[in-house]
Amino acid sequence: MAEQDYDLIVVGAGPGGYVAAIRAAQLGLKTACVESRETLGGTCLNVGCIPSKAMLHASEMYHEAHSGALAKFGIDFKSVGLNLDQMQAEKTKAVSELTGGIEFLFKKNKVDWLKGRAAFTSANSIDVGGKSYTAKSILIATGSSVTPLPGVEIDQRIIVDSTGALALPKVPKHLVVIGGGVIGMELGSVWLRLGAEVTVVEYLDQILPGYDGEVRKEAAKIFKKQGFNIRTGTKVTGAIVNGGTATLTVEPAAGGASETIEADCVLVSIGRRPNTEGLALDKAGLATNARGQIEIGHDFQTSVPGIYAVGDVVPGPMLAHKAEDEGLAAADFIAGGTGIVNHDVIPGVVYTYPEIASVGLTEEQAKERGEVKVGKFPMMANSRAKTNRDTDGFVKVVADAKTDRVLGVHIIASIAGSMIAEAAVAMEFGATSEDIAYTCHAHPTHAEALKEAAMAVTGKPIHM
Ligand code: FAD
Ligand code: NAI
Repeated sequence: MAEQDYDLIVVGAGPGGYVAAIRAAQLGLKTACVESRETLGGTCLNVGCIPSKAMLHASEMYHEAHSGALAKFGIDFKSVGLNLDQMQAEKTKAVSELTGGIEFLFKKNKVDWLKGRAAFTSANSIDVGGKSYTAKSILIATGSSVTPLPGVEIDQRIIVDSTGALALPKVPKHLVVIGGGVIGMELGSVWLRLGAEVTVVEYLDQILPGYDGEVRKEAAKIFKKQGFNIRTGTKVTGAIVNGGTATLTVEPAAGGASETIEADCVLVSIGRRPNTEGLALDKAGLATNARGQIEIGHDFQTSVPGIYAVGDVVPGPMLAHKAEDEGLAAADFIAGGTGIVNHDVIPGVVYTYPEIASVGLTEEQAKERGEVKVGKFPMMANSRAKTNRDTDGFVKVVADAKTDRVLGVHIIASIAGSMIAEAAVAMEFGATSEDIAYTCHAHPTHAEALKEAAMAVTGKPIHM
């Protein structure tokens, strides 16, 4: 075979692609990464994880100050104003610091950034902006984009996707969120806190699909208490925009009489679909499955030897840390080693207030596989949560009834996103609920609620 331009070309510089490129370069491979955006970092850094968390953090601080929630702690504000332009500017600054950081890491590790859109011309060559590049291996990490909803056209003005909803120039009077999943509840929270009336229209009979049933029920209760209007079992069948107003037609998901809802902003967040359009996969001998994903084997290799894929474009949860871990492991395989990702232990976090976090099997999934024991502990009985006045939520541990091995942990708590890491480590090491119960946890911490929930699996919590 003729000399190749690179050992590895990665297509896409999101968490899957940029991490794979850096790891491959560290392992001695001559590596390039193609990215068509103006900055590196993919959806996550540019228009996903990072800007959404910046807006969630800032809006939470505003809401705490503005709502008078801090008065009980003796903190009185004479007046609290919202400078949305400044809030957006600080978000943009955080994003550019992080995307710039990836550019620095590419230079440091000698990863070439090929700027432009990549399309396959064969199994080992791609075209970027009219220039051809060859490589021994090619890794597809092109991520995902919002799933469109027929009849509800995104104009990024009145009807927006998550990217538009992260950059609204003013607080909407009435925001209708179509889809009560992770994006809907996170971005709905941002604008609710900043003063919008927020209605969530969800097709299924509960919000947050994929999460534990009890968690979904409790989360909906908490969100309603916060002021969300949540309409489950309802579908949007169309939208008409007239000036600054959208009129949505909705009807019961099971069928029935339709009605209209008016809004000055509509967020379409009904899921995301893999990005493969324009990649000319057929030129490489590749095809997608029925869900538009690229299928891979345990070594992240596709059906075509030498072509690998990771992240949102392959099956599994669409999460940045899952993409990153797959990128690392794929690079290890490509360099001749072995990479490992335990897909059974991938935590998921919804960064609302309180946070919602989960790892492993839900109680429903675990019960389908065999007999389980469940331990639950309310945050109301956790001393730190009581002290901080953030007592909403609970910790639930699902364990195998025979072996006591922990199968899943589900948490609603102010800092559930940080607490879930302990559960993930425990599960990775094959812990039993007893292992967690006998591990000394610092007092007073929210993490003690996990210990108590683990104790509750065998019926012996102390503070309940
Ligand atoms: P991406 O990050 O999508 O990156 C793919 C890159 O490939 C893009 O930059 C794209 O421009 C580029 N590309 C595509 N096709 C081509 C081509 N042909 N040529 C050149 N370049 C190409 N996940 C979490 O874990 N935590 C969160 O808090 C979180 N928050 C989110 C909030 C929002 C609003 C959204 C939308 C998503 C969020 N996610 C979150 C999901 C997370 O962003 C994705 O799971 C993650 O970015 C997937 O990484 P990836 O590398 O597979 O793809
Ligand atoms: P999602 O899959 O989480 O939720 C979509 C929701 O829309 C579902 O509840 C679904 O039932 C509903 N829906 C679908 N069609 C509908 C219709 N016609 N009318 C009403 N409701 C409808 O998808 P979402 O929120 O768009 O997020 C996409 C991905 O991004 C997720 O897979 C998630 O993993 C990732 N993400 C992760 C975050 C995190 O980790 N904190 C934050 C944001 C996104």
